[in-house]
Amino acid sequence: MSLALITGASSGIGLELAKVLAREKHDLILVARTKEKLEDLARELEKSCAVQCQVIASDLSRHGSARELYDETKKLNLSPTVLINNAGFGDVGDFVEASESKIEKMLTLNMETLTLLTRLYAADMLKNRSGRILNVASTAAFQPGPYMAVYYATKAYVLSFTEALAEELKGKGVTATALCPGPVLTGFQSAANLASNARMFKTPAILPAAKVAEIGYDAMKRGCPVAVAGTVNRLMAFSTRLAPRRITAKLAGRLNRS
Ligand SMILES: NC(=O)c1ccc[n+]([C@@H]2O[C@H](COP(=O)([O-])OP(=O)(O)OC[C@H]3O[C@@H](n4cnc5c(N)ncnc54)[C@H](OP(=O)(O)O)[C@@H]3O)[C@@H](O)[C@H]2O)c1
Repeated sequence: MSLALITGASSGIGLELAKVLAREKHDLILVARTKEKLEDLARELEKSCAVQCQVIASDLSRHGSARELYDETKKLNLSPTVLINNAGFGDVGDFVEASESKIEKMLTLNMETLTLLTRLYAADMLKNRSGRILNVASTAAFQPGPYMAVYYATKAYVLSFTEALAEELKGKGVTATALCPGPVLTGFQSAANLASNARMFKTPAILPAAKVAEIGYDAMKRGCPVAVAGTVNRLMAFSTRLAPRRITAKLAGRLNRS
């Protein structure tokens, strides 16, 4: 049975990805900060899907946490053949008023930890010429995002990094996929201080987390470099290529401010 490590498995898209992978008979390493939620999920999946789940509670917004997690899995003799870098958060507001420590944590979690976990586990996967990597980006990756400036930039990084890696890995038995969800109702909104009535969550582009997880899993299995979740989001992502960047930035800014 293959073993999958999922970061941010305690809620939202990560939790739904854990359910999909368990249904597909992958053993799981579930990672997030909230141990109790992970343990509840592990119990549920072990019972309903007859898989084995290992829980590792870790704050991945700390420098060095990627190496720490990798060493912990080595110590437990666990070698994932699927890596899902899903943990991430955003923050709404004027950039110059944002907390420095929150910015640093976002950069570390959304980019640094994701990159270093990929580096560590991809090297192991390559030795066996077998593995799948899924990095959760966002449709935010396709344009600049005023009032969520750092978050959008981190997701542009995830998309660019993953597409480049996918190309490097071609023909080596390991694939990398960037999943780009549009708006999904999860814990993301409260973590980002988004109003519950924000305009970006009142659109036909909105999808349930379970659907996004299925799309991500399917794209990862097929080794697609990029998967934008949902037809409306795919059209919107494509249209950003045709419009000038300053226009897409203005529109995103309006949406984020609302
Ligand atoms: N929801 C959306 O509209 C949307 C759209 C596009 C992309 N995304 C992306 O999808 C991914 C999942 O987000 P979501 O929507 O499912 O939000 P969510 O419900 O808030 O889930 C975030 C997950 O990440 C974990 N996490 C947060 N900070 C962490 C830290 N410092 N260390 C370890 N784990 C941490 C959380 O668990 P703990 O709190 O227990 O640590 C939780 O399991 C993120 O990368 C997000 O940027 C979301």
